[in-house]
Amino acid sequence: MKITIIGTGYVGLVSGTCLAEVGNDVLCLDLDPKKIDTLNAGGIPIHEPGLDELVHRNAAAGRLRFTTSIEEAVAHGTIQMIAVGTPPDEDGSADLSHVVAAARNIGRHMSAYKLVVDKSTVPVGTADRVRAAIAEELALRGANIEFSVVSNPEFLKEGAAVEDFMRPDRIVVGSDDERATKLMHTLYQPFQRNHERLIVMDVRSAELTKYAANAMLATRISFMNELANLAETLGADIELVRKGIGSDPRIGYHFLYAGCGYGGSCFPKDVTALQRTAQDHGLTLQVLAAVEEVNARQKLRLIDKVERHFGKDLQGRHFALWGLAFKPNTDDMREAPALTIINQLLRRGATVTAYDPIATAEARKHLGDTIHYADSPMAALDNADALLIVTEWKVFRSPDFTRIRKELKRPIIIDGRNLYDPAIMAEMGITYDAIGRGVTEAKQQEPQS
Ligand SMILES: NC(=O)c1ccc[n+]([C@@H]2O[C@H](COP(=O)([O-])OP(=O)(O)OC[C@H]3O[C@@H](n4cnc5c(N)ncnc54)[C@H](O)[C@@H]3O)[C@@H](O)[C@H]2O)c1
Repeated sequence: MKITIIGTGYVGLVSGTCLAEVGNDVLCLDLDPKKIDTLNAGGIPIHEPGLDELVHRNAAAGRLRFTTSIEEAVAHGTIQMIAVGTPPDEDGSADLSHVVAAARNIGRHMSAYKLVVDKSTVPVGTADRVRAAIAEELALRGANIEFSVVSNPEFLKEGAAVEDFMRPDRIVVGSDDERATKLMHTLYQPFQRNHERLIVMDVRSAELTKYAANAMLATRISFMNELANLAETLGADIELVRKGIGSDPRIGYHFLYAGCGYGGSCFPKDVTALQRTAQDHGLTLQVLAAVEEVNARQKLRLIDKVERHFGKDLQGRHFALWGLAFKPNTDDMREAPALTIINQLLRRGATVTAYDPIATAEARKHLGDTIHYADSPMAALDNADALLIVTEWKVFRSPDFTRIRKELKRPIIIDGRNLYDPAIMAEMGITYDAIGRGVTEAKQQEPQS
């Protein structure tokens, strides 16, 4: 199939590459010439496991190409997949200007039937706006060309995006048009050889499904975070509670981790946008208002803990911080809790040296030279009063604790991701303060002979 991807960001690049991998002829459009130049020169603008190899293989085979030419892009694909950004507008609603601009471009340049696929996360009613924009442009030039618009929200997770696209749990398609539904079946047939994963529904339900999924996941996180803070006050351990409730199949273990708050390019903006949609229709989503409030507070939880050990005035204190990306296996820094935590530490007079396996370059764009960047976890500890853990990268799971104890001025780990066993930390002579587990004091170490 001939496919055009409009918007070559996380979703567009991954989707386009995976669609090329199964044999399609894919042309990716972006208006950012730097991004397209990078891709045409063999570079990959984002970090995503497995993506480099796939992009290079399909580009070399001629199945995956990149352009800034709107005319060329519209002419290429019978399927025009819109994967542009939908950032929050000033009032929290989704800014649809990129989506509508993409739709107008299609209407302006199409000369044959197009199936327009909304892959961006968009509020209910957007497919109607896309349809209207294309129809308007066609009318302006007196053209009478058929087209269909379907909703096909994307559920891939950054950090596992290629795997998620190649082996999806489900593919949601919102379509009111039989020709379009058939084409969508054909498009996704290679990704569901094991069993049918396409869930076809009306367009509005599909649009709402994406927001509902992200709102549900954010709710689980904020619920666990709120419970974690209670557990700490009560002297319970949230990690044991997590196991206790996760074992119930109605609850399940996924997305049940307490931590220092959710971030990223999706949950924060989608939770806000869904509330905004409700408000526009005279409704209030009370649960989601609380989810947001809890999350904003939870990003400061590590600061509470730092103050517990070092007091409010952090002038002259220096902290090591492990993990900058909003989650492991990505370099995405959008709404990352690390940004809030670092800003609060700096505001209180402390200095910070951070280590992240991948996200340092992205972090620099946000933080500049306000902090130091280390090139290994251990190098970050140099001269630090304590260690803060913000992102649960695998490389942090089993570090050399003896060395950590020796390097830190005071052997304290403040863990925003609950990576370690408090009993082992105590044995190792490290005071351990984690989310929903309280403080475990270090045991006195035998003097070395
Ligand atoms: N990132 C994720 O994990 C994820 C997951 C599922 C859904 N989504 C949704 O997918 C959409 C895209 O997200 P993303 O993270 O890939 O965004 P992104 O910011 O990484 O990429 C968007 C790209 O679109 C380009 N663009 C903007 N207007 C354009 C136009 N008119 N024509 C061509 N290109 C244009 C931008 O230059 C940019 O490169 C959003 O709606 C997002 O909510 C994202």
